[in-house]
Amino acid sequence: MAQQCIGVFDSGVGGLSVLAHIRSRLPHEDLCYFADSAHMPYGNKSVDELRKCSLFVADVLLKRGAKALVVACNTATAAAAHILREQLDVPVIGMEPGIKPAVHGSARGVVGVLATSGTISSEKFALLMQRFTEHVEVIVQPCPGLVERIEAGELGSGKTRSLLEQYLHPLLNRGVDAVVLGCTHYPFVIPLIRDIAGPDIQIIDTGDAIARELERQLGIHGLGASEGCGNIQFLTSGETETVRPVMQRLWGHALTLESCQAD
Ligand code: DGL
Repeated sequence: MAQQCIGVFDSGVGGLSVLAHIRSRLPHEDLCYFADSAHMPYGNKSVDELRKCSLFVADVLLKRGAKALVVACNTATAAAAHILREQLDVPVIGMEPGIKPAVHGSARGVVGVLATSGTISSEKFALLMQRFTEHVEVIVQPCPGLVERIEAGELGSGKTRSLLEQYLHPLLNRGVDAVVLGCTHYPFVIPLIRDIAGPDIQIIDTGDAIARELERQLGIHGLGASEGCGNIQFLTSGETETVRPVMQRLWGHALTLESCQAD
């Protein structure tokens, strides 16, 4: 079992921000990353569509020998992680916007959350808000269009900056001292967020927390690999010529990208 890979997926390149944390925490593990670029963005899809996409990707990854699955996408986690857990025989680890650490670390008691519309409208998100926001004001901001800019590799373009200004200014005007990145694409624009929000704002990304949870789950199930240098496979349901350049840029290395279409 310990030789099998860990399957990681997102709608596109966003989950690479999580994959990087997994790679540095678990260097012995073989990883298989699936970018469901043909169905990107997930953020405005219906719950049914998200479940269908997630089950399709999970099936591909299990056929590649995944011993555990990381849903490196907040939107898909909210819509489908519990279905994957019900239907699959492997541990499934999902994302959650870091509202809890933001609330605990906020001196002013005002926190902002950036996320997709799908995440924000989910039941899971409503429960999270109920649990952690009793004594703190949490301002929630959907960010339509931002994922598409990141998928286009526009990490510092004028368009990306003006979108982020539009989404961050209402939060900053209300005095937030922490901004939660509730979408795995957003860590790639942290430099721009920092530039707009200033040095004193806490930026909360849960990528490393998910890598830690994965490590814990592998330990519980006796699935961890403890030697050798793990290899990484990259797959996409989209056009490899379009997806590869931005993937390479965000991953920071040349990579081989395999096309894997829906049947
Ligand atoms: N990166 C994903 C998330 O964390 C999905 C973004 C999208 O495709 O809209 O929510």
